[in-house]
Amino acid sequence: TDTKLIAILPGDGIGPEVTAEARRVLEAMALPLSFEEAPVGGAAYRASGHPLPDETLALAKRADAILFGAVGDPAFDGLERSLRPEQAILGLRKHLATFANLRPARIFAGLEDASTLKPEVARAIDLVIVRELNGDVYFGEKGRRTTDAGLREGHDLMRYDESEVRRIAHIGFQTAAKRRGKLCSVDKANVLETSQLWRDVVIEVAAEYPQVELTHMYVDNAAMQLVRNPGAFDTIVTGNLFGDILSDQASMCVGSIGMLPSASLDADAKGLYEPIHGSAPDIAGQGKANPCAAILSAAMMLRHSLAMSDPADRIEAAVAAALATGVRTPDLGGTASTRAMGDAVLAAL
Ligand code: NAD
Ligand code: IPM
Ligand code: MN
Repeated sequence: TDTKLIAILPGDGIGPEVTAEARRVLEAMALPLSFEEAPVGGAAYRASGHPLPDETLALAKRADAILFGAVGDPAFDGLERSLRPEQAILGLRKHLATFANLRPARIFAGLEDASTLKPEVARAIDLVIVRELNGDVYFGEKGRRTTDAGLREGHDLMRYDESEVRRIAHIGFQTAAKRRGKLCSVDKANVLETSQLWRDVVIEVAAEYPQVELTHMYVDNAAMQLVRNPGAFDTIVTGNLFGDILSDQASMCVGSIGMLPSASLDADAKGLYEPIHGSAPDIAGQGKANPCAAILSAAMMLRHSLAMSDPADRIEAAVAAALATGVRTPDLGGTASTRAMGDAVLAAL
């Protein structure tokens, strides 16, 4: 059979609310897909004592693609780190070797007024952040100790080796080559040795992509340029931590963190798809969450992992059409519920 298995991992907080809408949209399209759900994050910890149970990881490995909601629960912030909900997503990314995280940010027509930028600045945004996802300070050795002076100390090792930088650099150049041919590598090479290595390797890889125009920018300047003139960016390639921060910033530039989807791909383009936002404990359970990022993540899944680019286009067009009718969740200045936003997308399909 040609039916593709989608693992749905809803997680915590608004994760289940937004993934439910993404699943409804996928189901409405009558594609050869089957779905299996499994607990992850705090929900899994509650049920079985571990944020990433063996059965959940096995399902993720068996599936053709994974649709992930969000993890994180303030009730578990005090747990030993290895048991916290966030370890589930970090563990999945590492176990599945999804090193390439694509976070596209473009403005949907009519959302200029939801952006905190001036409409004419926001209107020009069409960029993608290519974020390295398996290395950096996230995965270096970390620990706590007491210094000789009796002070508590914490440390996290920031590191990259050249192979890790090279493979994400290739993804950055290939992404830019399919877009407007402009790649901006963001680092902190004026201070950090990991960043100098990053820059050296990116320059070496550039020789293989003469059609792409490469520039370099320090991350502090990049944060500033992202709100000054975001339309100047096409493709940004950067490390794990800088990409995390810049993508939340880019999301608000296009109207809301509830609008940004992502794809996390391994070397064979098998992937995990998730909104860039978290579990949003402040609005969880109230039907206020914007499901667009999750729905757009499902579209990315169809395109990147399942070779179903026509249905992916249709979903994206339906989100645009739904927003154009004026249906909006509170983050976009409206009053629609999560379900009503999902309904509007379904109606537009
Ligand atoms: P968050 O993204 O959950 O929320 C930040 C703010 O944005 C909140 O005010 C929230 O209400 C709002 N928001 C987020 N998504 C929204 C949506 N779809 N619609 C409308 N508003 C939305 O970030 P946080 O508050 O820093 O973190 C909360 C928890 O989520 C933490 O436990 C954190 O570790 C976790 N987290 C998980 C992921 C993930 O699973 N990939 C990503 C980010 C944060
Ligand atoms: C994200 C999140 C995660 C990250 C956390 C929850 C581990 O912020 O997906 O952007 O930092 O990568
Ligand atoms: Mn983040």
